[in-house]
Amino acid sequence: MTTTLIDGIGLLYTGDPEREEIADAALVVADGLVAWAGPTAQAPDADERVDVQGRAVIPGFVDSHAHLIFAGDRTAEFQARMSGEPYTGGGIRTTVAATRQADDAELAARARALVNEMRVQGTTTVEIKSGYGLTVEDERRSLEIAAGLTGETTFLGAHVVPPDMDADSYVRLVAGEMLEACAPYAKWVDVFCERGAFDGDQTREILSAGMKAGLGVRVHASQLGEGPGVRIACELGAASADHCTHLTPADVDALASSETVATLLPGAEFSTRSPYPDARRLIDAGVTVALATDCNPGSSYTSSMAFCVALAVREMRMTPLEAIRAATYGGARALRRADVGWLRPGARADLVVLDAPSYVHLAYRPGVPLVHQVFQSGLLL
Ligand code: NIG
Ligand code: FE
Repeated sequence: MTTTLIDGIGLLYTGDPEREEIADAALVVADGLVAWAGPTAQAPDADERVDVQGRAVIPGFVDSHAHLIFAGDRTAEFQARMSGEPYTGGGIRTTVAATRQADDAELAARARALVNEMRVQGTTTVEIKSGYGLTVEDERRSLEIAAGLTGETTFLGAHVVPPDMDADSYVRLVAGEMLEACAPYAKWVDVFCERGAFDGDQTREILSAGMKAGLGVRVHASQLGEGPGVRIACELGAASADHCTHLTPADVDALASSETVATLLPGAEFSTRSPYPDARRLIDAGVTVALATDCNPGSSYTSSMAFCVALAVREMRMTPLEAIRAATYGGARALRRADVGWLRPGARADLVVLDAPSYVHLAYRPGVPLVHQVFQSGLLL
């Protein structure tokens, strides 16, 4: 087994709460895993050496919320919003129509291109949802394609009620035949719990059925207005409540006294010109926060975690340290993963070398491509 010493790290952000930042650091990679991390002066010997010449190193980003299985384009809807139209989620149906028309090869190629786009920007773990098929077969094939790209697959048949069905029959379908067809490809179940999508009772019914089928729970909650989503997520022991833009004090309390992560998706507020969630309020209450892109053709067509970090710092009252933590360690917590999101012995050697002396530059130099190198399981991309 060859071991590799990565040294000359000006600042290592480890993501490990026990030792988050190490200056003048080095890291040893063996067998695709981190074998050692610490100050260069104490570094053990290794077979090979990579000198990153003073650059900062961070764990690969963990993008714990993305909708990558789709076809079509919603530029016109974005343009209309930038002329003052509100975002309602109604455009989801435009993407559903285009997705149903696309063949598997097109859907897979588009999703693969997005995953590659993410990877060169430093994302080494990504969650992918279905939700633009909304028939048994279109949801099933969406998840089959997603499963070819990541282990973190989420069944979101309950994205909206398709135009050709009534809500009650659709909820029965999602919790029954559709779930059965999708569960073999899915790790998680998710519901868009929002006025205009699914109410509290419907959300509970679908999530409970998903849990019975062995899936973990995550919820689209309180994106457009206050609602029961966050409380349901906490009650059911969801790994994550996502969006969390419109929270009541009871929602914040529920999150603070649960294991449920609050995943914030500032790309959505940016692209829908909406008020940002208040990350400060959550962090001060003791809630674990994650940042993710929500990459999708409607509300947030960005694949850049660095952009989300910059937005979180500038618009959501997060410090650069809190933002990088949320984009790595937080994302891993939101996926209940202990092997990614941090660089400590035993973790996967997924790491990003930045063309910058510190991770702070991700917010300080917004929009600048700062990714110098990406290593996935110890291998340089
Ligand atoms: O997370 N809110 C629901 N789903 C997506 C948006 C989907 C769309 O507009 O196509 C979201 O923002
Ligand atoms: Fe989403």
